[in-house]
Amino acid sequence: MNKKSPSMLIGIDMKSISQEIEIIKKELAAAVAAITHETSLEAVRVAFLGRKGKIADLMEQLKSLSVEEKKIVGPLLNQLKTEAQEQLDACATTLKEKELAQKKLLQKNFDVSAYRYNELKGTSHIYTQIIADLEDVFISMGYDIADGPEVENEYYNFESLNIPADHPARDAQDSFFLEKKGMMLRTQCSSVQAREMEKSQPPIAIFCPGRVYRQEATDQTHDFLFTQAEILLVDKNISVSNLLATAHTFLRKIFDNETLEIRVRPGFFPFVEPGLEIDASCPFCTTGCSVCKHTRWIELLGTGMVHPNVLRSSGIDPTIYSGFAFGMGIERIAMIKYGINDIRLFHSSKIKFLNQFS
Ligand code: FA5
Repeated sequence: MNKKSPSMLIGIDMKSISQEIEIIKKELAAAVAAITHETSLEAVRVAFLGRKGKIADLMEQLKSLSVEEKKIVGPLLNQLKTEAQEQLDACATTLKEKELAQKKLLQKNFDVSAYRYNELKGTSHIYTQIIADLEDVFISMGYDIADGPEVENEYYNFESLNIPADHPARDAQDSFFLEKKGMMLRTQCSSVQAREMEKSQPPIAIFCPGRVYRQEATDQTHDFLFTQAEILLVDKNISVSNLLATAHTFLRKIFDNETLEIRVRPGFFPFVEPGLEIDASCPFCTTGCSVCKHTRWIELLGTGMVHPNVLRSSGIDPTIYSGFAFGMGIERIAMIKYGINDIRLFHSSKIKFLNQFS
């Protein structure tokens, strides 16, 4: 007696399920209309067709219906599911078409010139630039450019420069020797002096740049491979005042700096007498720093009047002629000129460092 008649049940459930289906259809239509990309498409699919989605919910309710009710409501829900799948498939197709159209438009407007590789720019190394500047200065003063071998024999690197085999000055320039006896990597460009003086009689005025090698520990201002330039002038009546005037002229020109201070102090080199050393004020500090080893000065070049023994051994009469010579470190000049605080950067091949001088 308590049993409800099947028609009654069908009437009530059919109505609410039909209403629910209509609501879901409207919601689905609104959700599909709002889809703009694949992520929102997937979210809508999960919300309506997913295992815990709205349609699966209704399917779950189907279980509690009678067989007769299932026969009527089941197909309605299946139809809803099919329609939802069709709408989402259509939406996916539209999205793909839009994406393709967008790609085609981009290809049509593709500007090939906007994707050119950056041009590779080369520049001469800072050594080359400083040497070229120095060459300009010395050529303008009437000097010739001279060259000599980097693999040198001990005679030109030492003996011709008044540095005999047992001379302590050889230790100051610890050398790399070759297996071939008497051959070495030159430690100084002064080796070109005797070669040039042997070739010709005064007046001799040469500027000689080149690499030199010393077996020594490196630090911010010392390297085992560095670049020197040697300057030699031999003629009649050449004195220390010519030397100082020349130093003043080329240092002022090369640094293009009227405030740079220069200090001249006695120095010892066996191939000059008197010997002098010229230092430049440290560009990094005013009171002392690690670069200048807290002295405020950076050693720049060695110089002096050519020793009579050196002139004599090259066949030049020291009673008629005299001369001066300079030897300077090109890197030290570049360091002061450009404010570089570590000499090892020069042959580090660091593009960022080198590009600064292009
Ligand atoms: C000489 O080599 C002498 N031939 C210079 C000279 C020439 C003196 C003519 C008198 C007459 P010295 O060893 O001091 O001297 O080196 C000359 C310059 O090379 C120094 O002033 C410095 O600027 C630079 N220099 C020396 N050693 C190093 C090093 N290890 N690393 C970088 N630069 C150096």
